Amino acid sequence: MRGKFITFEGGEGTGKSTQVELLARTLVKKGWDVVVTKEPGGTEVGKEIRRLLVCGDKDKMDATAEALLYYADRHIHMVQKILPALENGKIVISDRFADSTKAYQCYGYGERVSKEVVDELYRIAVGDFKPDLTIVLDIDPEKGLRRSFAKADNMAEKELRFESRALEFHTNLREGFKIIAEEEPERCVVLDADKSIDELHQSVMNVVEQRLGLFTEKCDSNHIEEIG
Ligand code: TMP
Repeated sequence: MRGKFITFEGGEGTGKSTQVELLARTLVKKGWDVVVTKEPGGTEVGKEIRRLLVCGDKDKMDATAEALLYYADRHIHMVQKILPALENGKIVISDRFADSTKAYQCYGYGERVSKEVVDELYRIAVGDFKPDLTIVLDIDPEKGLRRSFAKADNMAEKELRFESRALEFHTNLREGFKIIAEEEPERCVVLDADKSIDELHQSVMNVVEQRLGLFTEKCDSNHIEEIG
């Protein structure tokens, strides 16, 4: 049986990584084989691409170059990691996927990269494939950015290229995620991320159960693979 592909999306500091981890642990307890991964940086090549994208001066490349690099990372990620795991019946949970490119590189920059161009890149790099479920975590960008900057205090190499953009960029991409979710309600659910970690995890589990029924389905293995 083919596995399921679940993606988490949202702006900065929404708590995606924590919720990805909690969901993975809950699914493993229920007996599922789970692969936790992320974009950019879900593969060896992807880790190198990630460094180019998230570190350094915010103006070192434009939105088009960013979109191309994110899609290069995504194509390698899908071919090398996501598809093989799904073919082996695993649940793959990714911290970000294609909606981030539309939200950040298209809507964030006021459509400097058009929706048509982003859709064309998707067609070339990803084809017909799409997530079974996308959970968009939504929070006031000012609050999210504060959380992100606080987290970066402990990072050796600061991954703050996008956080350093103006508040308008973050407000735009927040709206962008909402538009994306409204356009594909059968795939996407928006959750208010301005609540406690446990409350949000409960909401995530409710959505995963309603949409995919993974907590009631029987399964007999229990294993988790993680990408560092
Ligand atoms: P992360 O901090 O959630 O790991 O994501 C890395 C950064 O890259 C984050 O600032 C969002 C940004 N990003 C894009 O701009 N476009 C994309 O397609 C993806 C996947 C991430």
